[in-house]
Amino acid sequence: MLKNLIKKIPGNVRMAKLLGLIPQQPDERKFLLEMLPRQSVGAEIGVHMGDFSQNIIEAISPRELHLIDPWEYQASSVYETAWYGGGAKGGQTEMDERYSSILSRFNKNIHAEQVTVHRGYSTDILQQFPDQYFDWVYIDGNHLYEYVKKDLELSFQKVKPGGYITGDDYTEGHWWKGGVKKAVDECAANQSVQLVEIRNGQFIFRKSNESVPLNNMTTSS
Ligand SMILES: C[S@@+](CC[C@H](N)C(=O)[O-])C[C@H]1O[C@@H](n2cnc3c(N)ncnc32)[C@H](O)[C@@H]1O
Repeated sequence: MLKNLIKKIPGNVRMAKLLGLIPQQPDERKFLLEMLPRQSVGAEIGVHMGDFSQNIIEAISPRELHLIDPWEYQASSVYETAWYGGGAKGGQTEMDERYSSILSRFNKNIHAEQVTVHRGYSTDILQQFPDQYFDWVYIDGNHLYEYVKKDLELSFQKVKPGGYITGDDYTEGHWWKGGVKKAVDECAANQSVQLVEIRNGQFIFRKSNESVPLNNMTTSS
C-alpha cells in the first residue's frame, strides 16, 4: 500500500529506499554480487537487519563473512532521518533488538563459522584484521564524508591486491550531504586506484597489485 503510494510520486522510490520505507531490491545489487568471487572472504560494513548479508550468503556462499555494525542509536540531530537515528523510534532498545535479530537470523551460519558478527565501529573492527586479509569489503555504514573516507582507506589496507572495495549510496544530497560520493570521487581521482564501475548507487574499486596505502597517495584534486 505505502509502496504503491510512493511509486506514484516521481523520483520518490530511491528516496523511500534510502529512508528504509521500502527495501532496496536485490536486483539493483545483482551485478555486484555476480562480480564477487564465490567462497571468498569478505566484510560488510553496516549490516542493519541483514537483508544484504543474506543476499551475499545466497549469491556467493562466502568462506568467511564478517558483519560489522555497532547497532548504536545516534541521538544527534545530524542523524534525524538515519535508520540508526530518528529512524529507530525505539532508540537503543530497538538497536539492541536488531542486533539480537541478526544473531538469530544467522545462527546456523555463525555456528558453521561462516559468519562472524562484530558489534562495533568499522574503524575499530577493521583494524583488528591483518593487512590484505579480505577478498572484498562492502562499505554501507556511516555515510558522512569523514567516515566513508576512513572506511575506504582502511578497506584498501585490509583487502588483498586484486580484491574489491565496494559500497552503497553513491549519490548526491540526503542527510549525509553526498558524503559517500565525495569520498568515492576523491578516491577515484587517485591515479593508483582503479574505479571499476558505478551503477545503481553502487561503487566498485579494484585494488591494484602495487598495494600503495591510500592515505599515502597523492590525488589530483
Ligand atoms: C544503510 S544501513 C546498512 C544496510 C545494509 N548494508 C543492507 O544493505 O541491508 C547502515 C548501518 O550502518 C551502521 N553504522 C553506522 N555507523 C557505523 C560505523 N561507524 N561502522 C559500522 N557500521 C555503522 C548502522 O548501525 C546501520 O545499521
